[in-house]
Amino acid sequence: MGLFQYSGVLCFCLLLVFKTCIADSQHIGKIYPGFEASHSDWVDKNGLFLRSNSSVFACGFYTGLDAQLFLLVVIHISSAKVVWTANRAKLVKGSEKFVFGKNGNVYLQLGDGVAWSSNTTGQKVSSMELQDSGNLVLLGEDGTVVWQSYSHPTDTLLPGQEFSEGMRLKSFPNSNNMSVFLEIKSGDLVLYAGYQTPQTYWSLANDSRKTNSSVGGKVHSAYLESNAWNFYDQNKKLLWQFVFTENNNPNATWAAILGSDGAITFSDLHKGNQVVSEAIKIPQNSCGNPEHCGLYYVCYFENWCQCPSSLQSFNCKPPISSTCDGSNDSAELLFVGENLYYFALGFVKPLSKFNVEDCKEACLHNCSCSALFFQNSTQNCYLFDQIGTFQRSQQGSAGYISYVKIVSGTSDGSGNKGKKTLLIVFMVIASIIVIAVLLYLGLWYRRKKNSMNFSQENLEEDTFLDSCFKWNDDGSSSGILGDSSGILMSAVRLSGPR
Ligand SMILES: *[C@@H]1O[C@H](CO)[C@@H](O)[C@H](O)[C@H]1NC(C)=O
Ligand SMILES: *[C@@H]1O[C@H](CO)[C@@H](O)[C@H](O)[C@H]1NC(C)=O
Ligand SMILES: *[C@@H]1O[C@H](CO)[C@@H](O)[C@H](O)[C@H]1NC(C)=O
Ligand SMILES: *[C@@H]1O[C@H](CO)[C@@H](O)[C@H](O)[C@H]1NC(C)=O
Ligand SMILES: *[C@@H]1O[C@H](CO)[C@@H](O)[C@H](O)[C@H]1NC(C)=O
Ligand SMILES: *[C@@H]1O[C@H](CO)[C@@H](O)[C@H](O)[C@H]1NC(C)=O
Ligand SMILES: *[C@@H]1O[C@H](CO)[C@@H](O)[C@H](O)[C@H]1NC(C)=O
Ligand SMILES: *[C@@H]1O[C@H](CO)[C@@H](O)[C@H](O)[C@H]1NC(C)=O
Ligand SMILES: *[C@@H]1O[C@H](CO)[C@@H](O)[C@H](O)[C@H]1NC(C)=O
Repeated sequence: MGLFQYSGVLCFCLLLVFKTCIADSQHIGKIYPGFEASHSDWVDKNGLFLRSNSSVFACGFYTGLDAQLFLLVVIHISSAKVVWTANRAKLVKGSEKFVFGKNGNVYLQLGDGVAWSSNTTGQKVSSMELQDSGNLVLLGEDGTVVWQSYSHPTDTLLPGQEFSEGMRLKSFPNSNNMSVFLEIKSGDLVLYAGYQTPQTYWSLANDSRKTNSSVGGKVHSAYLESNAWNFYDQNKKLLWQFVFTENNNPNATWAAILGSDGAITFSDLHKGNQVVSEAIKIPQNSCGNPEHCGLYYVCYFENWCQCPSSLQSFNCKPPISSTCDGSNDSAELLFVGENLYYFALGFVKPLSKFNVEDCKEACLHNCSCSALFFQNSTQNCYLFDQIGTFQRSQQGSAGYISYVKIVSGTSDGSGNKGKKTLLIVFMVIASIIVIAVLLYLGLWYRRKKNSMNFSQENLEEDTFLDSCFKWNDDGSSSGILGDSSGILMSAVRLSGPR
């Protein structure tokens, strides 16, 4: 019986050794149909089960914020930057498997369903290769590319990766759960905020930093090549060049990353864990990012944020009314300010030949309108169903006045009420602290008195304070406890009963 148990344990140990042996050797270059892996199987390799031939990139499971849930990613090893993600919104557990099916489909289990799939069932896939360029490809029997991660980018573009019409980059959502997108739309490259009605905030056509190659036409594809982002038409003729760095080190691996802040930045992954992004970004001014300062704040200079004075009583969270469900038809317009600008104004058609009253009427009678911008000099009126960060208009340009539509009867007081409760809470806490300090001092004095064996008994607290501290006329005090405690004692004196 004992011997039997012993051999059982031995078998188990051998199995463990065998298993770790397998897990120890990451696959290099390629994996083949029938392959399965979960994070648990590859814990000691940080979840990464496949390396590119020269170990520049790796593929495997990556931990998000929640250390129990995982993403399937391609990661640049030396910089630890994730360059591609399969299952952004559907994270999987440590035991759930990545499966390369014998039928050619590659998928990621999630419960009884799938978190992600390459949708290549029946396409005669013979292998999956992680290339040294960071491209994860499914190769057919004849060596053709059946599927590639380069054609399904997430928020990062790598050197040589084609970005063409029909593809899009999507940023990770920001703290308001808003993502931004990059797309080629009607021959132009645009960045837009993913609101219910998308709002464009940058376009290549409007960016004066690009260089002209003397060929006119519509942008069809874009590539990162050396230190520039190059834009081509359908016949692969170079239309525009956007040079994002002066540094043209041939060893650099320039990646363009669409951040959740709304900006595209350019980083040299080759710099390893010291990678920093270049100063040139898109859009150049941070105030041009849709929610740089949060909703309803005004952004000015490069980076300063301020809540407009009219919204301060709401803590910059005005009770916006823009519902079309008919439940509340009583709404009013609240003046936000003048000399304002908004990132989407340059990309939408205004209602023209309006005066400010017409513009306000149009917004009030349009249930989806939640904000308006009006420019007196051009008599243009713009209505929006949702807005992000306002901008201060550039020096010298006329700027716009803006109103937001709020629920009626909330425009006064509600914010002040909040401030009053805050004040009361503060006063209560201050009193508690004062009482605690008094008690403590009393105890301290009593103990000290006992230990020093003084005979003055029944000394009252007030007399104690007076004997230790000399109150100055201006309310401050000087005493045996030194300068810092003087401040404390001033507070005691001000709020105490004396
Ligand atoms: C992998 O790298 C080695 C050298 O490290 C090279 O000889 C080989 O051709 C490479 N294989 C592929 C498929 O690129
Ligand atoms: C696979 O197909 C599903 C359903 O049509 C789709 O949601 C998913 O995006 C596809 N995956 C890829 C990688 O194309
Ligand atoms: C965030 O937005 C997505 C759609 O864009 C939605 O599916 C998801 O539920 C939202 N999450 C939260 C926490 O609001
Ligand atoms: C670019 O070059 C073309 C042809 O020379 C010219 O027509 C066009 O105005 C130029 N565009 C800019 C922005 O310089
Ligand atoms: C590029 O890499 C090669 C080989 O690693 C090295 O010899 C060379 O100095 C590098 N060039 C620069 C400009 O860093
Ligand atoms: C409608 O207005 C009332 C107050 O006037 C408010 O309490 C309620 O939340 C509003 N409902 C909607 C759907 O906005
Ligand atoms: C973008 O360019 C178009 C025409 O080239 C112009 O009408 C528009 O005002 C510009 N928008 C911005 C934000 O500069
Ligand atoms: C708006 O423009 C009109 C003329 O176009 C002018 O008379 C009026 O004073 C302007 N109003 C403001 C507030 O600038
Ligand atoms: C109503 O407002 C929306 C924005 O919320 C705007 O896009 C639309 O053009 C407006 N409709 C009319 C008829 O003005």
